[in-house]
Amino acid sequence: MGIISKLTGCGSYLPKNVVTNADLAKKVDTSEEWIFSRTGIKQRHHAAVGENTSDLALIAAERALLHAGVNGHDVDLIVVGTTTPDRTFPATAVRIQKNLGCDHGAAFDVQAVCSGFIYALSIVDSMLKAGQFKTALVIGADTLSRLLNWEDRTTCVLFGDGAGAVVVQAFEVDTNSFHDGGILSTHIHSDGSMEDLLYCDGGPSTTQTTGYITMSGKEVFRHAVTKLASVVTEALAANNLKDIDIDWLVPHQANKRIIDSTVKKLNMPKDKVVLTVHDHANTSAASIPLALDRAVHDGRIKRGDLLLMEAMGGGLTWGAALARW
Ligand code: ACO
Repeated sequence: MGIISKLTGCGSYLPKNVVTNADLAKKVDTSEEWIFSRTGIKQRHHAAVGENTSDLALIAAERALLHAGVNGHDVDLIVVGTTTPDRTFPATAVRIQKNLGCDHGAAFDVQAVCSGFIYALSIVDSMLKAGQFKTALVIGADTLSRLLNWEDRTTCVLFGDGAGAVVVQAFEVDTNSFHDGGILSTHIHSDGSMEDLLYCDGGPSTTQTTGYITMSGKEVFRHAVTKLASVVTEALAANNLKDIDIDWLVPHQANKRIIDSTVKKLNMPKDKVVLTVHDHANTSAASIPLALDRAVHDGRIKRGDLLLMEAMGGGLTWGAALARW
């Protein structure tokens, strides 16, 4: 016998306030055409004043629980990937735990910026397989609009707010009999020597402010293309799989041009790629579960499909996960 962890439900939430490229062009020296042609982004959603990361995450989590047919009381682990916590401390995850009515288990945040969902999924996968917990919520939630410098047109057009969640459950299986494997493997990496390529110039122990996003766009682009290709190769090799075996690529939605390059390297047909960046821009840790939820609920992703999820973000951090839906 052994334990596998499976994705059993998903949910997401985007704030109601939609900001189009044309809206931005009214207050920033930019154009609809520049943003769309460089990034594939058409619009983003901004959280309302008083609407916090945990509020977005709570709705996504409730939808994921409903989809999985799981009661909030059954959840014994909540891990939230976020760069924009409600408070410096405690973790946003404990606020979600309280608001979901969960009264046991553990809840904590993971800070890996745009790779936050993959990092959180990797941690939860290990903890479930170790037998420590049975039913987990993995949430990616961010309100990056709160970290934007409206004087910096190279970054302020790229990001939006949102949340996505998945329920991950542990199942005992007979390892000698057929089972679909659930989450097959996760792979996470970081290289702190590249911290200055993408960071927020504030922090509790330095400026006592949250600061603004600062990015060397071209360099980040270059590293994204090479690191994502390398971690995808690593994930496939670890499972003796080939690119042709993947049913759906569910990438971090930062930039259509980065996704296109990964797809080209993977030799995948474009209709096997879930693309939502046009609709919500880069929502950091939320973007993979947002895209996953879209494709599951519109019927593209079906039970048993093999999913490849990948992301890169500030740190630099990057990672991938292979899972059967
Ligand atoms: N509107 C109009 N013009 C602009 C804007 C804007 N919003 N921003 C920059 N420009 C101008 C620049 O001033 C420059 O003008 P110049 O030639 O007169 O000096 C020109 O456009 C080209 O600027 P570049 O910075 O060279 O533009 P580039 O083609 O590299 O595109 C971009 C910038 C879109 C940020 C690109 O580098 C990129 O996609 N990088 C990846 C970054 C990313 O996605 N990060 C997300 C976080 S990490 C992750 O999630 C993977």
